[in-house]
Amino acid sequence: MTSHLIGLLLGTEDDWPTAFEEILRRLGPVKDFDGGEHAFDCERITIEPFNLRDKPRYNLVIDRLAYWYYVPREWLKKVAMMDSVYLLNSPFTFQSMEKHAAYCAMMRLGLKVPETVLVPYKNPVDNSRYAYTAARYNQPFDLDAIAHKIGYPLFMKPYDGGAWRGVSRINNVTELHAAYDASGEMLMHLQKAIDFDVFARSLSIGAETMVMKFQPDRPMHERYAVEHDFLAPDAGLEAVTIGRLVNAFFKWAFTPCATLVKGSDVFPIDYANACPDVALTSLHYYFPWAIKTLVKWTVFCLATGRQPRLDTDTRAYFDISDLPDLDYGQKLDRYRKLADAHFAVDEYRGWLSHLLRGGSLPAGCGMGGLTWPERQSKAPPGRGRGLC
Ligand SMILES: Nc1ncnc2c1ncn2[C@@H]1O[C@H](COP(=O)(O)OP(=O)(O)OP(=O)(O)O)[C@@H](O)[C@H]1O
Ligand SMILES: [Mg+2]
Repeated sequence: MTSHLIGLLLGTEDDWPTAFEEILRRLGPVKDFDGGEHAFDCERITIEPFNLRDKPRYNLVIDRLAYWYYVPREWLKKVAMMDSVYLLNSPFTFQSMEKHAAYCAMMRLGLKVPETVLVPYKNPVDNSRYAYTAARYNQPFDLDAIAHKIGYPLFMKPYDGGAWRGVSRINNVTELHAAYDASGEMLMHLQKAIDFDVFARSLSIGAETMVMKFQPDRPMHERYAVEHDFLAPDAGLEAVTIGRLVNAFFKWAFTPCATLVKGSDVFPIDYANACPDVALTSLHYYFPWAIKTLVKWTVFCLATGRQPRLDTDTRAYFDISDLPDLDYGQKLDRYRKLADAHFAVDEYRGWLSHLLRGGSLPAGCGMGGLTWPERQSKAPPGRGRGLC
């Protein structure tokens, strides 16, 4: 029997970790393709001094903390580099988890990221060298002209935002200046507003992606609507592809992706989040799917000996985007193949079937959320959708 220990690096949350721990306990040992037995346990990681040559006890870590807390972040880098611990998500691409880098990457791949401009800080950065540097090199700029060129309405939002901090919708010059004055030391993007028909927000966990109808104007607990068939099949597939592509590109495995759908166009506006919202009070209907998938994916990685990847292979994606004869749809198909290969989607599918046959997983917990429209647009037998 091979034992695997999963570490949970946590901040304030208690809902999903409790569910995860319980589901993992109920899962019990599983057999791999060759009949070898694997047992799983998990533990909440505590923070303490560490010797860089210490051997970690964990085989895989689900991290919800290191984005803002640097002691565990540095520990994650160490266990990734020295001990090949499998991480959700890579600490080396945190810097790309500000929206900005991911916007750039997805624009480079030809995705329909709305027109976006980065403007310098309203207030100087707190650095004694600023005054000299600014006097020498900062060019004055015309904020009104930039906004005019993008066109109203537009959004002003931090280049590294999250949780709607500092996000404002701007309809005219007066609102533009009020928002910029209030931005202070936050570095802001101005982004063309999309007058969307549907907000499709996806959550990717390893090889699975769930696309959900998001209602940003509703209170928190009502934002994820329990509604199916809200996208045409092509738009659904595109939303899955974009979510999975961003993850594969940066070698993340547990992040959300926000896309705005207008007609048949899918505009990605937000992704790259080190600590996606998986709160019970927010996901509610989709919460069981998320936690079970987290269990399925982590067990898959450990039992099949999936090797963590720290290196990104941006060139493979850029090579596709640079092919002059491919249209947008053909490029998306190619990106999707690369992303699916990275997440070993076929192997994962086979693995779930294997667990179902062996009785380790209850019926109905197999292929959920792998693609659109497999899951969302077909009524499942028995229980409501999203629950397996
Ligand atoms: N270009 C845009 N067009 C239309 N609406 C937008 C646009 N950008 C942002 N929004 C609206 O503002 C909200 C917050 O924007 P965004 O998702 O970029 O910020 P965030 O702080 O990362 O939010 P979250 O916590 O949901 O990840 C979006 O959910 C959407 O409703
Ligand atoms: Mg965000």
